[in-house]
Amino acid sequence: MDRPARIYLDNAATSFPKPGGVLRAMVEYATEVGASPGRGSYAESRRGAEILARCRGRLCELFGGESASHVVFTHNCTDALNLAIHGLVKGVRRREPGARVHLVTTAMDHNSVLRVCSDLRVDGVEVTRVPADAEGFVEPAAIAGAIRRETRLVSVVHASNVTGSLQDVGAIGRVCGLAGVPLLVDAAQSLGHVPVDVRAMGIDLLAFPGHKGLMGPQGTGGLYLRPGMEALVEPVRQGGTGSRSERDVQPGELPDRYEAGSHNTLGVAGLLAGVEWVLERGVSSVRRHEVGLIGAFLRAFPGEARGFRLLGTRDAARRVGVFAVVHEAIAPWELAAGLEEGAGVLGRAGLHCAPGAHETVGTLATGGACRLSVGPFTTGEDVERACGALAGLASGCGVGGLG
Ligand SMILES: Cc1ncc(COP(=O)(O)O)c(C=O)c1O
Repeated sequence: MDRPARIYLDNAATSFPKPGGVLRAMVEYATEVGASPGRGSYAESRRGAEILARCRGRLCELFGGESASHVVFTHNCTDALNLAIHGLVKGVRRREPGARVHLVTTAMDHNSVLRVCSDLRVDGVEVTRVPADAEGFVEPAAIAGAIRRETRLVSVVHASNVTGSLQDVGAIGRVCGLAGVPLLVDAAQSLGHVPVDVRAMGIDLLAFPGHKGLMGPQGTGGLYLRPGMEALVEPVRQGGTGSRSERDVQPGELPDRYEAGSHNTLGVAGLLAGVEWVLERGVSSVRRHEVGLIGAFLRAFPGEARGFRLLGTRDAARRVGVFAVVHEAIAPWELAAGLEEGAGVLGRAGLHCAPGAHETVGTLATGGACRLSVGPFTTGEDVERACGALAGLASGCGVGGLG
């Protein structure tokens, strides 16, 4: 039997395919430049430094950042979140030894925040996890209620990688601004998908992957610090920067303060091409395409009559194109395996590294969900075929089907 054509619906893990320019930029860097950026004075090394600088600038254009040097490259979004949270707590401990430290996060957050918080708890940091409603939305007022005198940071995930729910980050930013507490936003599922404006939304720290909505390669990501935040966030890694090398302490200037060691310049060359692709297309146009796919999914989704439940809201304006589905008689892993075997549809079953989100929607104890997630190259036909394949699996097990 012929293998069915592949339909990649795991864009929430990493986007695929990438725009052609991303690969071309990486090949060009690998074959024509090659050098470690800024460490040498020769032209190729300067060219590498220009690529890093250009990428920082274009990222600022994308999310309204004020200072390109405050864009720090990381390995991925997890690395950026670790730097923000550990760096901030380290800063408090240095400035105010013995002070109580309290962090606020949410039930919808990913393990890249929850596990960092658990690690810090071992060392006496207090953490409040604000609950979400049954669709995965967190009330800004509940964040306000969780903030205390000793709260040093609020960390929220912008778009859930389970329910797709988009938090009202602007309202949360206002709450944090009034309380004088910095706001860290995990934009893993939102940057490149929906408009993000750090100034308008009151975001102090923005953590993002390069390999999802920004269309860059895996191994890329970044943290944007609102100018001034560098006084609060200590570096968590020290090493060579090619600057102030006569001193054996980390330089204070950005981005060197946080970027020790050789860069993934090959990756950033690809990321730059990805960001430029998004900017050229326009985030609002990417979003329109995604909203169209959400509509197509909701129309074609087999629904409750066939034993299915879609996690999260059906309101396209309040969600991204991440569709976690469960079936009353078929386990999530069986759905994912059946979709691949029968229709070449590639989704991801399980808890998606977000146990709090699954607990919120009642799927933690039952193996999570099967998640299908779209990207800018997904078509309406892809989504319809995936939904048709889901319906076929339900029919095969005799729930709400024809046989
Ligand atoms: C909401 C959320 N936060 C953080 C991450 C971690 O991103 P990365 O894989 O770039 O470390 C993910 C990855 O799926 C995610 O969905």
